Amino acid sequence: METISKTIFDPLEIRGRKLANRLVVAPMTRVSATHAGVPTQEMADYYEAFAEGGFGMIITEGTYTDELFSKANRDQPGIVNAEHMHGWKRVVTAVHRHNALIISQLMHGGALSEVTGATIAPSAVQPAGLRSTDNSVSPSPFPMPRAMQTEDLNAVKEGYVRAALLAREAGFDGVELHAANGYLFDQFITPHTNLRTDEYGGNERNRLRFLMEVYQAVKAASPGDFIVGIRISESKVNDLTYRWPGGSETARRIFEVLAEIDPDYVHIAAEGGRWERECKYPDGSSSNSIAKSLLRSPVIANGGMHDVALAETLLNNHAADLVSIGRAAIASPDWPKRVAAGGPVVPFYKELIKPSLTLAHTQRVKEQCHESTLC
Ligand SMILES: Cc1cc2nc3c(=O)[nH]c(=O)nc-3n(C[C@H](O)[C@H](O)[C@H](O)COP(=O)(O)O)c2cc1C
Repeated sequence: METISKTIFDPLEIRGRKLANRLVVAPMTRVSATHAGVPTQEMADYYEAFAEGGFGMIITEGTYTDELFSKANRDQPGIVNAEHMHGWKRVVTAVHRHNALIISQLMHGGALSEVTGATIAPSAVQPAGLRSTDNSVSPSPFPMPRAMQTEDLNAVKEGYVRAALLAREAGFDGVELHAANGYLFDQFITPHTNLRTDEYGGNERNRLRFLMEVYQAVKAASPGDFIVGIRISESKVNDLTYRWPGGSETARRIFEVLAEIDPDYVHIAAEGGRWERECKYPDGSSSNSIAKSLLRSPVIANGGMHDVALAETLLNNHAADLVSIGRAAIASPDWPKRVAAGGPVVPFYKELIKPSLTLAHTQRVKEQCHESTLC
């Protein structure tokens, strides 16, 4: 019997919500909200361009969940109060004018916050690297975080539940719990930043416990068709070369534990943009293929997925159900429509991600740059 190959343009359904294709915009911080974290009209235009450009689902930039310690970057949007919610409603309404879903990425910076004076983390371990994304100050070491107490765990969990309820009120199709790239949940998952001796430290199950508790609390507070996904990764913003210590064996244990909650989707990030380098193991398996073999959840692959051949190989090799695209989507918000029509797509220039996301700025950069830095 002839098998029909899957393509990036095949539809899919998650929690009864229909995606026009397998193409997802990866979450990307753009520091373009107001100082108080309110999403702007400029952001509504920015997100609408991806929906109009044919992406089936858009995941927003990391959005902070409480006014205590969660905010990671200056001018990062929040989803903490009514003003934030109304700002996001404008974004969601713009996206829903087209045939696309929109998911709010809920993020707590933990020890990697660049804006809160004091920081919290699973343990008092100073992060590697420098605070550097705030261009108004020169790079400096991250402060030593305070180890979280039970009250902190409860406050973070409550923040996530409130944020998810506000996201629902704003009209989002779901939320993604950001447990990747070195931020708070990832600090729990990573052995060298989690030295706890209580039930939140030690083996994989314990290190994932806080994430799973927050997931379950958010799920319990949400209607059945509200998507709650989880993003996870090995590499980190402050250590792009980090890999799980036991390789594919650690991956297997992590996904075995996550299979107990079977999130609505699992999104595996490759922050450095290289899937082969960040998600593959020497034994030929990958974090994606292991996740797919252990979970019922749809799996999103990331990291250079603008390479259509690679993306479709993963879809057909039982390693992914969807692919998320970051930098190439910034360069061409209409990437799906362009690819469907046979190209060409616009190359990515580093200048596109700073200092602002305005479409006029993007156009200016495209006119000024001659060399592609997308690798
Ligand atoms: C400007 C920029 C901002 C990013 N911000 C986030 C973020 O807020 N949350 C997140 O999970 N990943 C973030 N990432 C990582 C991307 O989601 C993605 O993993 C990375 O760009 C690799 O995918 P790509 O090869 O398609 O670009 C960011 C990446 C870029 C380029």
